[in-house]
Amino acid sequence: MSKGIILYQSKYGATKKYADWLKEATGFDCIETKKADIQTVRNYDTILLGGGVYASGIAGLSFLRKHIATLKDKKIAVFCVGASPYDKTSFEAGYRHNFKDALEGITCFYCRGAWNEAAMSFSDRTLCKLLQKAVAKKNPADYEPWEQALVSAMGQSCDWTEKKYLEPLLNYIKE
Ligand SMILES: Cc1cc2nc3c(=O)[nH]c(=O)nc-3n(C[C@H](O)[C@H](O)[C@H](O)COP(=O)(O)O)c2cc1C
Repeated sequence: MSKGIILYQSKYGATKKYADWLKEATGFDCIETKKADIQTVRNYDTILLGGGVYASGIAGLSFLRKHIATLKDKKIAVFCVGASPYDKTSFEAGYRHNFKDALEGITCFYCRGAWNEAAMSFSDRTLCKLLQKAVAKKNPADYEPWEQALVSAMGQSCDWTEKKYLEPLLNYIKE
């Protein structure tokens, strides 16, 4: 396997858990995206960037957006970590939202994360409660997959992280 680096941004630990599993499986170096500098990252052949999904955005993806021209010849993959169960249509819509212009075509994988309202910051918990209230007013038959997950997770502590979600990414970097 070529020389690689894992960059991750994780607020509550789920993406970090995947980054640690990836490090274990690949032997790649691993660093928080916020601490990464492009002069170091450009020395690697493979770059794996992971981030939690927050209001449909991927944490830390701005690093790639900023430096994509420098990294254009590298093997790049993104793994995003969200609370929703995988759903092809939602994933594709999320992809179109995040991977515009120079990021178009970058390979992205989905790993299911965790949900722990007790651990959330006050502002995150307030935002989630507002969202949950809005969704709860809808007819459950019309829920989107992420809305279903949000309502089911209400007041709960859930951890859906599993190593199996990394298999497609591990196969991709072996190609
Ligand atoms: C304010 C807020 C917004 C969120 N928005 C989404 C979302 O749009 N889609 C999703 O699947 N999960 C969403 N989540 C859940 C997180 O993506 C999930 O908890 C994930 O495991 C976070 O990863 P991290 O702990 O590595 O940051 C949200 C969580 C919070 C607190």
